[in-house]
Amino acid sequence: MKAIKIVNGIYRVGANIENGDMFEGMWPIPHGVSLNCYVVKGEKTALIDLVRDWNDAPLTIKEQLESIPLSFKEIDYLVLNHLEPDHTGWLHDFIEENPRIEILATKKGVELAKVFSGITENIRAVKSGDILDLGDGKELVFEEVPNVHWPETMVTYEKSSRILFSCDAFGSYGSIGAAVFDDELSEEDHEFFYKESLRYYANIVSTFSTFVLKAIDKLKDLEIAMIAPSHGIIWRENPARIVSLYKDFATYMNGPALPEITVIWGSMYGHTEQVLHSVIKGIRSENVPVHIHRVPNEDVSWALADAWKSAGLVFGMPTYEYKMFPPIVYVLDVFGIKHIWNKKVFRFGSWGWSGGAQKDFEARTEKLKWEFIDPVEWNGTADKEVHERAYQRGKELAKLVKTESS
Ligand code: FEO
Repeated sequence: MKAIKIVNGIYRVGANIENGDMFEGMWPIPHGVSLNCYVVKGEKTALIDLVRDWNDAPLTIKEQLESIPLSFKEIDYLVLNHLEPDHTGWLHDFIEENPRIEILATKKGVELAKVFSGITENIRAVKSGDILDLGDGKELVFEEVPNVHWPETMVTYEKSSRILFSCDAFGSYGSIGAAVFDDELSEEDHEFFYKESLRYYANIVSTFSTFVLKAIDKLKDLEIAMIAPSHGIIWRENPARIVSLYKDFATYMNGPALPEITVIWGSMYGHTEQVLHSVIKGIRSENVPVHIHRVPNEDVSWALADAWKSAGLVFGMPTYEYKMFPPIVYVLDVFGIKHIWNKKVFRFGSWGWSGGAQKDFEARTEKLKWEFIDPVEWNGTADKEVHERAYQRGKELAKLVKTESS
């Protein structure tokens, strides 16, 4: 693949990570993820964001640069919007290829370059409003957007083209094929990237939603012709679309979220699973969309994405040795870290020789600002009365989320 020309003098180079690794070492990426970098050529040349030495990404970038043509050695400036190693892991080796490069990052970014890569020379701190004049009409303006995703993060804006290089912000999972721009995507592709943007947001960015809203507000007066993130597609035709999506995603943290319900369940011998069907029937009787995830069979990444956007949550799990079914404990830990807050919640499950899951569940979710409806618990195999109560609770929760979101 060649470098993609965005406008005169500005190119996208990028690599897809499709080697089966997990993102951040924990999030499945079965459809890959792209690491995008951008070249801005004036009289001087800047590269915006780098890659990690991952799935041959540096070699891929090198080959694409050659199609411009450009070599690593000819780059004058390296702008590091964000120091997380997916964008900087190859930094040390890059400097060996180009020892004269000057690096620009925020003050905190400069500190992280030292910590991660031992870089202390030819690096300078920039702050909001600082401009790097590349000559020939190309000017880069920096804007700090702390905590989108790490505290040192900034975005870079090229004035003449009005392109915003947003790094993680407005990014997505999913490899990039021949279609790089939003206007080249089919409806099906857009649906794919919507899902992968949401999952990326819930997995990576959700904790920092307050900062996402602050950043969007900070950038609101900027005339943006295109958004070029470091993961995902370039928004050329409709950059407002991804800003609006990210605004919606960020808003879900404090609500209102969508009138949907995400069910996360696990069952040892099928006694909890049997009642799951009654709960789902109850939810569906109110025509509320329901997303169902079984653990530990399925990775938490997908449940997290659906839970993030849903106003209602259901947990189906038995008691396990006086406590909750352990795979749900992990889900709740992740939900706590990722700020799955302000939800309407129902829990059901069986117990055998001792209860205890409900008490454990309430203690572990105390700080999540959840509103509970009465649980349904039973000993052994559920009878008709339990099924009926579970059906009614599913219905009750569905009604509640419809009211909450209307
Ligand atoms: Fe794509 Fe937070 O790194």
